[in-house]
Amino acid sequence: MIPLLIDCDPGHDDSMAILYAARHFELRGLTTVFGNSIVENTTRNALKICELAGLDIPVAGGIGAPLVGSFTPSMIHGASGLDGADLPEPKRRAVDMHAVTMIIEQARKAEGELVLAAIGPLTNVAVALRTEPRLARWLKCITIMGGSLDIGNASPYAEANILKDPEAAAAVFSSDAEIYLAGLNFTRQAILDRSHAEMLRQAGGAVPETVAGMLDFYLNRNEARYGKPISPMHDPSALVPFVRPDLVEHQAFHIQVELASPLLRGMTVADQRNVTRRPDEPEPPRANVKAGVRMDGPAATRHVIETIASYGRG
Ligand code: BDR
Ligand code: CA
Repeated sequence: MIPLLIDCDPGHDDSMAILYAARHFELRGLTTVFGNSIVENTTRNALKICELAGLDIPVAGGIGAPLVGSFTPSMIHGASGLDGADLPEPKRRAVDMHAVTMIIEQARKAEGELVLAAIGPLTNVAVALRTEPRLARWLKCITIMGGSLDIGNASPYAEANILKDPEAAAAVFSSDAEIYLAGLNFTRQAILDRSHAEMLRQAGGAVPETVAGMLDFYLNRNEARYGKPISPMHDPSALVPFVRPDLVEHQAFHIQVELASPLLRGMTVADQRNVTRRPDEPEPPRANVKAGVRMDGPAATRHVIETIASYGRG
């Protein structure tokens, strides 16, 4: 199994990604970052998910604010970051190690094999890459849920994880790490709806029923806000390509993160026609990201929901 570390901000879809990952990867730990809520809450939520599923893995708390500017929680996932789920109080605490240190240590130990999934703002990852310049080489790759090859969700053209810390995202995208991207153009091809919550309820058991409750909260919120009880399956879509490559297609692009424009800040600008040229350089810049472009959405959502339903069978 592929060794995996998840840097996350749970979060409903983060929780689904963690539970999915624990069944398909050798999950070596979780590091947390601010995002769907303050980092104290996302760390606590990560511990609660581990408690719920009996996952014996280290959880390390990380950075609570972007590299530049400040942060206000969006409340999309409720005040706790994980409203709607009745989760057990965690018996274990976060380890006495910073998330940035854990990312570096886990990558070093795995000797080129570790996949780092980054499914929240990229602050911990950017700081880890800056702190240990060999980290990009030590990692097999970084798979990111963030950005978009078309429209955004937190602003017309920016996705939430990138917009919450554009400077961090720019640092990660310009690093030497091999990067896979699950942007909104990709995650919107996999749609969760009430039938998925129902499948989890039918499966029974603490984990599926709790995730069904999370889905209810999230789908109801989307219905109230956008008129339809559906949601793209964001965070698990960064992991599915490693388990079911048959369901996805990627293309390599040169992607840069816009930092200056107030209107487009946080936009992931992909050169989809290879037109970027610098006056002093004859060659176009290298494609730095393998971005998801196509996914068999119904098969991918079924596969993720079936994995979470399997917790009901022990
Ligand atoms: C991303 O933002 C968060 O709300 C989700 O957890 C996901 O990582 C989607 O834009
Ligand atoms: Ca997330």
